[in-house]
Amino acid sequence: MNISIIGAGYVGLITGVGFAKLGNKVSIVDLNHDLIQKLNNNQMPFYEPDLEDYIKNPEVAENIFFYSDYESSIDKNTDMVFVCVQTPTDFESGKTDTTYLKNVLVKLNNFNNYEFTICIKSTVNSKLIKNICKEINLEYEKIIFNPEFLREGSALFDFFNPDRIVIGGSDINSLDKCLKLYESFECEKIITDSISSQIIKYLSNTYLAMRLSFVNETFKLVSEFGGNPNQILNAIGKDNRIGNHYFRPSPGWGGSCFPKDVKEVSNFLQNDYQSPLISKIIESNELHMDWFADYLLRSLKDKNLSNIILIGAPFKENTDDMRESPTLKIYDRLANKFQNTFILDLKVKLASDYKLIESIEDLEEDTLYVEMFPDSSNERLELLKEVKKQKNSFVLKMWETS
Ligand SMILES: NC(=O)c1ccc[n+]([C@@H]2O[C@H](COP(=O)([O-])OP(=O)(O)OC[C@H]3O[C@@H](n4cnc5c(N)ncnc54)[C@H](O)[C@@H]3O)[C@@H](O)[C@H]2O)c1
Repeated sequence: MNISIIGAGYVGLITGVGFAKLGNKVSIVDLNHDLIQKLNNNQMPFYEPDLEDYIKNPEVAENIFFYSDYESSIDKNTDMVFVCVQTPTDFESGKTDTTYLKNVLVKLNNFNNYEFTICIKSTVNSKLIKNICKEINLEYEKIIFNPEFLREGSALFDFFNPDRIVIGGSDINSLDKCLKLYESFECEKIITDSISSQIIKYLSNTYLAMRLSFVNETFKLVSEFGGNPNQILNAIGKDNRIGNHYFRPSPGWGGSCFPKDVKEVSNFLQNDYQSPLISKIIESNELHMDWFADYLLRSLKDKNLSNIILIGAPFKENTDDMRESPTLKIYDRLANKFQNTFILDLKVKLASDYKLIESIEDLEEDTLYVEMFPDSSNERLELLKEVKKQKNSFVLKMWETS
C-alpha cells in the first residue's frame, strides 16, 4: 500500500519504519525542517533501540521517504494517511490542545477528489475530531481511528508484536483497508466505533498509571510503617489476578502520555459524573514525588552525607525522552531545599539550569546516589562500579530498597 504519515515523532517514525519494513511505500511528512533534514541525512532525531539499524536497512530504506511538505508526500496513489501529531494538554484550559490535529485536517481537506483514508493514530477524544470536521467541512464518517499502544524504549518491538490492534470507525471500506495493512499480524484485532477505540487507549493508560501509583503508595506506606515494601509487593503480585508485571515501585511516573491522558480522562468525567479514584491519580503521583524528595533528604541526614546525585534524566530506561521526567521534577523539589543536588546522565544533554555531573571523573564522595530507573546497559554497570569506589557513598534504588 502507499501510505503517508503525518508527524515524524515517536509514533509517526516508528509506524512509518514498521510499515516500510512490511513492504509498503511510506512517505513521512513533518513541518519541522531540521528533523526531516536529519532523517534525510540518516541521523536519528531521538534515541530508540534498533531504530537506526531499521532505517539503514536496505529493505526499509528503499520504501521510506521524508518530506517537509504535504504535496510531495500525498498524491492520487496514496491509500492511507496516518495522522501522528502531538496532542498535548493546553496549559491554560487543562484540556487537550487539538491545534496540531486541526492544522493537519485542514491541510488534508485541501486534497480534493483524492481517495485516501484518513486514520488518526494520535490520542484524542474522537468527539473533538467530529467538531473540527464540522468546522472545516470535512466528512467525519470517513475518518477512522487506530490508537497506538507502543512504549518508548521498546517501540519497534511493540510495533511488530502488539498485544492487540484497535481500529474504530464506521466506514466499512476504510476499516477494511486498515485491516488489510495489518493482515500479517497475529494478535487480536478489535474493530469498534470511533469513540470506543479512543476510550480504550485513554483508559488503558489510566489503568497503567493507577497501577503504578498504587505500587508507589504501597511502597510509601509500608516503608514508613517499617515493613519491607519490595517483599510485600512481590508477595501481592504472586496472586495471578494481580501479577508482578508492571508492578515496580519508582520515584514517580511521567512521560509524554500518562500525565496528559489521565488528565483528559478526568476532564471527560468531571463534567457529569463523580470518579474519585481516577480524579486522584495525578495528585497521588505528585504527592509521591514530594514524599520521595523528603525521603531522600531524610536518608541524607541519617547517613550524614553531603550530596544527592540523581542517576538518569529521561522519564524511564532506554529512551532520551525527558518530557515530564520524574528526575527533573524531583530535582526541582530537592534543589529548593538542598543546594548540592545534581543530575548524572552520561547519555543525554540537559539544559544548563540543572546542576550536572557530566563525567565519571566528577563523581563525588559522601554522596547519596539515586538510581531513578533500572538500566542493565554496560554503561550503567560501569558507572555503578565507579560509584562504589567513592568513599562514604550509598546507592539507593527503590525496587530493591528495604
Ligand atoms: N510517544 C509515545 O510513546 C506515544 C505512544 C502512544 C500514543 N502516543 C500518542 O501519539 C501522538 C503523537 O505522539 P508523539 O510522542 O509521537 O509526538 P511527538 O511530539 O514526538 O511528534 C509529533 C510530530 O508531529 C509534528 N507535527 C506537528 N504538527 C504537524 C503538522 N501540522 N504537520 C506535520 N507534522 C506536524 C511535530 O513536528 C512532531 O515531530 C500523541 O497523541 C500521543 O499521545 C504517543
